[in-house]
Amino acid sequence: MMDRMPAPELTVVVPCYNERPNVAPMIAKLDAALAGIAWEVVYVDDNSPDGTAAEVRRIAQTDARVRCIRRVGRRGLASAVIEGALSSSAAYVAVIDGDLQHDETRLPVMLAALRTGEVDLAVASRHVEGGDNAGLANQWRHFLSDGGIWLAQRFLPVRLTDPMSGFFMLPRPLFEELAHGLNGQGFKILLDLVLSSPAPLRVREVPATFSERIAGESKLDALVMIQFGGLLLDKICGGLLPLRFISFGLVGGLGILIHLAILASLRQTTGLEFEVEQAIATVFAMIFNFKLNNSITYRDQRLRGPRLWRGLLLFMLVCGVGAIANIGIANVLYESHTNWTAAGAIGALIGVVWNYAVSSTLVWRAR
Ligand code: GDD
Ligand code: MN
Repeated sequence: MMDRMPAPELTVVVPCYNERPNVAPMIAKLDAALAGIAWEVVYVDDNSPDGTAAEVRRIAQTDARVRCIRRVGRRGLASAVIEGALSSSAAYVAVIDGDLQHDETRLPVMLAALRTGEVDLAVASRHVEGGDNAGLANQWRHFLSDGGIWLAQRFLPVRLTDPMSGFFMLPRPLFEELAHGLNGQGFKILLDLVLSSPAPLRVREVPATFSERIAGESKLDALVMIQFGGLLLDKICGGLLPLRFISFGLVGGLGILIHLAILASLRQTTGLEFEVEQAIATVFAMIFNFKLNNSITYRDQRLRGPRLWRGLLLFMLVCGVGAIANIGIANVLYESHTNWTAAGAIGALIGVVWNYAVSSTLVWRAR
């Protein structure tokens, strides 16, 4: 009979994208830091072009503690973390970056805190005594990080000095419980976990340093920050409106401004018919909205290559129908003596809902 290996006590989840040179050093560091603990590591790779997954599998050939989840056609730190954690059968799951910026020697300290049973969540913090944030690339990153922390703390049910930390540990059953409410977008999985818990979690902060990245590059960009704002908005609205809808609506609002700006400048510079100018402005605004929705609202299922063009065409068709519905309904209401602002607003609202519902099923096929 084959020897049976029980599940390890700790699963370390490592989201990674283009981290190939960091894989082997990271596993060696885990091996040293976790001596005496039954652990495994799960790399969750979004099909990195640099072959990160192949590198993980190469090491896994000779080390059963190393696993790899390779996701094709999807991107996103938070959703990678969720999938990795849900693949675990261990008592505890930890999340740590795969770029050697986090201090893995904090893992046993976090585990010890959780083992007492008095703590639900151990978080490595750069902002408690003994922690350090020196690895942030520049002043701009410091500003974003401090601003994000300040903002997040307005909404937190528990005190967290580093709610943006990407390095933490919790009991796996607790993660499974909270998984239902997670938003899965952007970078801020920790914040999402804390905000999703019905009862405030008992948090232990462990001081940690955040060192400089040596190989590869950071994937945090302006869009990640926008998604972070979206996460807060989503939680404040209590999930009343889907985050995507809010994003879609905001993009639509921007689109109207673009439309008006183009129209105004065409009026001034060309002698075209009003209808022609309207049509040109409409087409530009639609392209603008499509681009923005593709990179923000539907970032996790972004269309590329030939599917991008097909998507754009479909989007324009869908929005065209939406505009006709909008104008038609507003007209009917206006003629039946609804005042014009109410008629216009109801028409616009129905138009947005239509555009959103149809484009998220037809153009981006939301799952
Ligand atoms: N699977 C997957 N998919 N992994 C990703 C993705 C993705 O789309 N984007 C980033 N990662 C992985 C990276 O490869 C790395 O292992 C980890 O997630 C963190 O990404 P970085 O791009 O290195 O982020 P950072 O160093 O700028 O940000 C870190 O510090 C922030 C605080 O300043 C992270 O720990 C953040 O969570 C943290 O808020
Ligand atoms: Mn990093």
